[in-house]
Amino acid sequence: MLKKIKTSFFCQECGYESIKWLGKCPSCGSWNSFVEEKLNSDSSHRGSWKPRSNYAEGNSKLSAKPHRLSEIDYADQHRIYTPDEELNRVLGGGIMPGSIVLIGGEPGIGKSTLMLQIALMLSSQRVLYVSGEESEQQIKMRAERLGITSDNCFILTETNTQNIFAQAEIVQPHLLIVDSIQTLTSSYLESAAGSVSQVRECAAELISFGKQTHTSIFMIGHITKEGSLAGPKVLEHMVDTVLHFEGDRHLSYRVLRTVKNRFGSTSELGIYEMCGNGLKQVKNPSEILLSQRDEALSGITVGATLEGNRPLLIEVQSLVSASVYGTPQRTPNGFDAKRLNMLLAVLEKRGGYKLYANDVFLNITGGIKVEDPAIDLAVAVSIISSYEDIVIPNRFCFAGEVGLGGEIRAVSRIEQRIAEAQKLGFTDMYISKYNLKNALSNLSITLHLVGTLEDIVRKLFNTL
Ligand code: TYD
Ligand code: MG
Repeated sequence: MLKKIKTSFFCQECGYESIKWLGKCPSCGSWNSFVEEKLNSDSSHRGSWKPRSNYAEGNSKLSAKPHRLSEIDYADQHRIYTPDEELNRVLGGGIMPGSIVLIGGEPGIGKSTLMLQIALMLSSQRVLYVSGEESEQQIKMRAERLGITSDNCFILTETNTQNIFAQAEIVQPHLLIVDSIQTLTSSYLESAAGSVSQVRECAAELISFGKQTHTSIFMIGHITKEGSLAGPKVLEHMVDTVLHFEGDRHLSYRVLRTVKNRFGSTSELGIYEMCGNGLKQVKNPSEILLSQRDEALSGITVGATLEGNRPLLIEVQSLVSASVYGTPQRTPNGFDAKRLNMLLAVLEKRGGYKLYANDVFLNITGGIKVEDPAIDLAVAVSIISSYEDIVIPNRFCFAGEVGLGGEIRAVSRIEQRIAEAQKLGFTDMYISKYNLKNALSNLSITLHLVGTLEDIVRKLFNTL
């Protein structure tokens, strides 16, 4: 008898499964995202459970036994410390053996370059670099461009997961790199490479291979135009660490950001510069993010932010100009649009600035996205500076969160921010008056404590 092929419809955005086609996904709300995919014949057993009596004694399905937490030994789990300090930092102190890392980013941002560079730099470890996107020759050309050589780096161009595992068992790598998860196919599924069920199945196979053989795995993942990792969201839940590689393709700076990490803190940041011969680590980001300017211009301020454990001084530029159309434009670059609208509303209500009749353009220099609320104060002051056309001296910097009442709120780890500003030669720093409970001594920088936006406007602009 001919076996009936079972199919199901999957949302390509979130992985929601439905037996019939739907125009709109009930789970994530995206339109026209359902694609029919064949299921493997065993899928009807998914999630089923049988009582123990159904298994014969010593059945291999019962091989995993519970252990007392105190009996579990992890002394042998030495992290692999790579020569790349930025990567070590975002991973929380090196690569954890057996960990699965997903690295996402837009096409052409430099994911393959970063991974190949790490594979070659780790010359003391055996690395297997599996590529389903490029030929061996292309990878060799790239390696020559990078100018690093390693005898321990193996290249495999293959997309079938079972073949990859067969080769990995021969090579026995410490680190397996897969470029990219969307090109892999599993022989157990018939759907096309890159479809939700293939991506999910291949990732699950890779994870179980990694955990059983204690191999660390880096998977490269493509990003959809909406900015999420292509394939189901479920991929992010399956892996130990999710990294995003981002940056403006027209600028040379790239940021490696931790989105999820089971072995360290998130919100860590690694900064690289794309050069002619690969990615270079940027050790002193603040000095680069501050543009060298001789002329004093209005609308430019510097915010003392903190990304993970690292203080960063970032330049904020804004331009406020009379609006030609009825609806004024608000165009932030590197800053959240909703937060900008909130700050503009606060400036209007508490400061009396008539921003409703003005276009506001905001730019965080260096192509970096800032999420630290401490940049609020720098953003607010830069908008007022542009509106009033009054220059803020370039040796001033700011750190404070702006509340809805126009109050300047305290920010975390102010000492670190002050130390960084002082190191870079800033003379004056404006911070929340609620921040300093105990006075700091021996400062070469003048601290101005402010409680509300009005305070700061009075001090800097004298217009109230
Ligand atoms: P790539 O790593 O292929 O990006 P992804 O894998 O994320 O799609 O590289 C992208 C770009 O980087 C490519 O346009 C060329 C550039 N590049 C350099 O500028 N310098 C270099 O040394 C290398 C290898 C690439
Ligand atoms: Mg690539």
